[in-house]
Amino acid sequence: MARAIEMLANLLAVTVLCICVHNTFQLVPLPDFIHPCGELTDECFTQATLDAIPGVVRGIPEAGIPSLDPLYLDRNITMNLPGNVKMTFHNGKLSGLRTCVPDKVSSHREKRTFIFDIHCNFTIKGHYSILGRILLFSLDTEGSAKIKIWNQHIRLEVLEKVVKDKNGEGHYKINSYKYKADYGTDLKLNLTNLFRGSPQISANILDVLNSNSQLVAAEFGGPILDYAIDYAMNVTQRFFSTYTYDQISKVPLTEEFFEDD
Ligand SMILES: *[C@@H]1O[C@H](CO)[C@@H](O)[C@H](O)[C@H]1NC(C)=O
Ligand SMILES: *[C@@H]1O[C@H](CO)[C@@H](O)[C@H](O)[C@H]1NC(C)=O
Ligand SMILES: *[C@@H]1O[C@H](CO)[C@@H](O)[C@H](O)[C@H]1NC(C)=O
Ligand SMILES: *[C@@H]1O[C@H](CO)[C@@H](O)[C@H](O)[C@H]1NC(C)=O
Repeated sequence: MARAIEMLANLLAVTVLCICVHNTFQLVPLPDFIHPCGELTDECFTQATLDAIPGVVRGIPEAGIPSLDPLYLDRNITMNLPGNVKMTFHNGKLSGLRTCVPDKVSSHREKRTFIFDIHCNFTIKGHYSILGRILLFSLDTEGSAKIKIWNQHIRLEVLEKVVKDKNGEGHYKINSYKYKADYGTDLKLNLTNLFRGSPQISANILDVLNSNSQLVAAEFGGPILDYAIDYAMNVTQRFFSTYTYDQISKVPLTEEFFEDD
């Protein structure tokens, strides 16, 4: 009898140990550049975002997050430029996510919303092809494209919820997001080989495009920014799915905050 109890106790101990070890091993250790906030203040979230950006942009392999700078665009982007010009952009590469600086990051817990006000310097490179007319010239050409954007301001609103995983651990889940970018920023566009055989005409056309920089930024930068932000949101979701709420936040969550997936 005593022996049976002893065996049972051992079995129990082993089981408990297994569960603990099992659970402990399931938590992916939080990278040291993630500094959880103990309060819901703008100061803390802004600082934590500033601290997190360089490390997240370098990539977190254990969370399935690749390096984000440069970001390679895996699809073609088609845009309509001023006048009647259709431009396709391919083999695109966006550099500069590591330059992003948060001006203000706020949590509005009652609305389940985070708001990020950030600014970044971007360089976008790739190949373009163009079909259409600019000024008096018909264009049917292709070449390399480079666009530099300074101080691109972005206001990103992320709607989240917290759901429980199969171990009962809470995780943020992004419900939806939207963003606004102000294109009142400084921009320089360079397209090689724009007008075949005439560097002078090419330069003139570029001048026209560059003097409409807000429009070009919206038309050209817009779809690329759409891509980059969608990509960043996918990465952020992977981050949230890897790390539990309790790992990345020191603000306790009451039961009412958990929602069904
Ligand atoms: C992207 O555009 C290039 C050049 O126009 C073309 O060769 C390629 O097939 C396109 N790729 C996709 C995925 O549409
Ligand atoms: C963006 O570029 C400008 C001009 O080179 C520089 O002064 C500024 O510090 C850069 N901003 C960031 C966020 O890197
Ligand atoms: C555009 O890029 C080409 C090739 O890199 C360079 O030779 C040219 O000077 C650039 N033009 C402008 C206006 O920056
Ligand atoms: C983000 O993820 C969604 C869903 O998996 C996917 O359809 C979309 O293409 C991704 N966005 C980017 C920019 O990779």
